[in-house]
Amino acid sequence: MDEVEKAIRKIRNGVFVVTFFLDGRSYGMTTAWVNRASFKPNMLMISIGKNRKGYEELLEAEVFCVNILGDEHLEIARHFGNTNGNNLNNFNDVEFKDMENGSPMLKNCVSAVECKLVKKVDAGDHVVLFGEILNAIDLEGDGMVFDRENFS
Ligand SMILES: Cc1cc2nc3c(=O)[nH]c(=O)nc-3n(C[C@H](O)[C@H](O)[C@H](O)COP(=O)(O)O)c2cc1C
Repeated sequence: MDEVEKAIRKIRNGVFVVTFFLDGRSYGMTTAWVNRASFKPNMLMISIGKNRKGYEELLEAEVFCVNILGDEHLEIARHFGNTNGNNLNNFNDVEFKDMENGSPMLKNCVSAVECKLVKKVDAGDHVVLFGEILNAIDLEGDGMVFDRENFS
């Protein structure tokens, strides 16, 4: 690993599942590159690989939910973080309910924030999507800190 990679890996991230609903299907994608972007309006930003399965559908859906996971939700992070995209639409064993604007909120999360896509910025092999916060639900617990060893 080179010096640059070693240095930037010291940035701490949480672990999230971005969910959305389009044409009768629910989608879930594990993400670590999520942050708050603005107070006024209240906004989050998520960085999504352009080649990810579900990327085009996410743009089309225009509304998404950032489900913030806790330490106890590692299995769900692995489930929706499959890099072969197999579980993108697999909500069979996943309990969820609809947010106000139709995004799936995972029962297994510590909070959920529903956003409307308002801006898209090209960033190399990723695209940074800015979502204006529409509503949120806060449950018990704190967010997990991403640890690479949990996903090797
Ligand atoms: C812990 C973890 C964090 C991830 N963070 C991101 C992320 O921030 N952005 C992203 O585009 N993909 C991220 N991924 C990969 C996607 O979850 C994964 O690519 C997606 O489920 C679809 O699979 P695909 O790569 O076959 O298209 C992450 C995966 C894991 C396990």
